[in-house]
Amino acid sequence: MSTLVLGIESSCDETSVAVVEGGRRVLANETASQMDLHSRYGGVVPEVASRQHLESLPVLVREVLKQSQVNFKDLTGIAVTAAPGLIGALLVGVSAAKAMAFRLGIPFTTVHHIEAHLYAAELDAHSVLFPALGLVVSGGHTELYHMEGWGQYQLLGSTRDDAAGEAYDKVAKLMGLGYPGGPILEKLAKSAGEVTEKFSRARMKDKSQDFSFSGVKTAVSLEIKKNPPQNERDRERLAAKFQNTVLMEITEHVLAGLGNFPVKSLVVGGGVACNMALREALRKEIESFGVALRVPPPKYCSDNAAMIAGLGAYQLSLGKIASFSATATAYPSSVSPFLLQ
Ligand code: KG4
Ligand code: ZN
Repeated sequence: MSTLVLGIESSCDETSVAVVEGGRRVLANETASQMDLHSRYGGVVPEVASRQHLESLPVLVREVLKQSQVNFKDLTGIAVTAAPGLIGALLVGVSAAKAMAFRLGIPFTTVHHIEAHLYAAELDAHSVLFPALGLVVSGGHTELYHMEGWGQYQLLGSTRDDAAGEAYDKVAKLMGLGYPGGPILEKLAKSAGEVTEKFSRARMKDKSQDFSFSGVKTAVSLEIKKNPPQNERDRERLAAKFQNTVLMEITEHVLAGLGNFPVKSLVVGGGVACNMALREALRKEIESFGVALRVPPPKYCSDNAAMIAGLGAYQLSLGKIASFSATATAYPSSVSPFLLQ
């Protein structure tokens, strides 16, 4: 009999619940965004987020069970994000997962949010071919991994300063645009048409594999001071120049990784992977390596519970069952970020 795992994601400002069959077939995936609630404060307010998760979770659980035509008693396991994230927000999800697992008498497992962003490539898709390179580009993380299989990772590089999504959000703020900055800047850059200009970047002297995005943010800020954009055309060009620089920073690191490791696929996950220009740039760059590009559809790139349920089902199949004393961790070790349990 195939597994039916209910996944819960509540690490930041999205409450999401999903039901996944057999670790990869998504039967239902619903997300309640808290964006409007936090926008008046100019950022996510942790306590407000926790309280809203508490309200949204029961509603979403009922909704996904209805959509997937699954009863509580059909579920074979529960998976929940336990790190990283806002501690109060995470604890709401972990407590809900424990309560349901206890009441239903089924196992639950704790999942690392960033690992799940990579696992999203398995959802409603063919299996990922290993060895692979894994690129996570989200609002809080920018990391490149060498992956022998699920659960076997070597960190090749991470960001020294801002994450890729954070750079989009901060630059959008500098330009007086809304939040989240990624989709807004992508749209502006697209309207600019053929712009090849980039900001110059300071190269790391130690040939490190680490990413850096704070330089381009500073460059945009200086440009705005020197030549304030006068009209929409100026804003479009600035967005394109910024995006070209970010894409180059990302593709250069991926190419270096491909040069060092013979892999079969490149797996990309996280909110910034919604960016069509990034997908296209990666597709072009890796063509000559004969490597398969595995990027999930946008609904599984941004925060969602289907990726949590999928990875959770895989963990449960290996017997990785959490105990009722398991808890959430805001910042797990950056050396072994996925070693949670
Ligand atoms: O993975 P995610 O949904 O949440 C985190 O775990 O951080 O990523 C959110 C980030 C935000 O910084 C947002 O601006 C960025 O992903 N993002 C994008 C795009 N869509 C979302 N960045 C660039 N282009 C996009 N189309
Ligand atoms: Zn995320």
